[in-house]
Amino acid sequence: MRSTCWRRRCTRGSTSAFVSYELGRPVIEKAGVAHKVDFRVGDGLAVLDGMLDDAGGGGAFDFAYADADKLQYGGYHERLLRLVRVGGTIAYDNTLWGGSVAMPRDTPGSSEYDRLVRDYMLGFNAAVAADDRVEACVLPVADGVTLCRRVK
Ligand SMILES: C[S@@+](CC[C@H](N)C(=O)[O-])C[C@H]1O[C@@H](n2cnc3c(N)ncnc32)[C@H](O)[C@@H]1O
Repeated sequence: MRSTCWRRRCTRGSTSAFVSYELGRPVIEKAGVAHKVDFRVGDGLAVLDGMLDDAGGGGAFDFAYADADKLQYGGYHERLLRLVRVGGTIAYDNTLWGGSVAMPRDTPGSSEYDRLVRDYMLGFNAAVAADDRVEACVLPVADGVTLCRRVK
């Protein structure tokens, strides 16, 4: 929800439109800015594929924020790299998964899903760090946010 509010602030007073499909819709509607949003609901990968079809070659977006299926971030990354222009930014939420990426895998209290996402995020962050199409950093705020600036 925090991300929704942040983006709303960014677009306040502007005429720019952006695409979103998330839980924040009631907040966007209450703020009276729903007319600026092209809501699309569905499986994230399928929605992004549809947006790529619509974009006809991609590069149409300045910024993307991913916060849906944590185990699909790799697939989102490939698609978002085509949708976001060179110089644009992609943000991935929850990439430190409660700090578990820096803890032993069998930390007491972690669920099987926690371990699954922990392992996935370790691989995802390593892959993004080695990806020469982006400049990447992980912000240690809240649950971790990985920022990628598309450079090629
Ligand atoms: C942590 S919430 C996102 C909250 C959102 N950032 C906001 O500010 O309201 C994760 C969302 O991803 C959605 N989700 C989970 N798996 C998905 C998938 N495969 N495709 C699309 N959305 C998915 C969930 O339904 C949930 O709404």
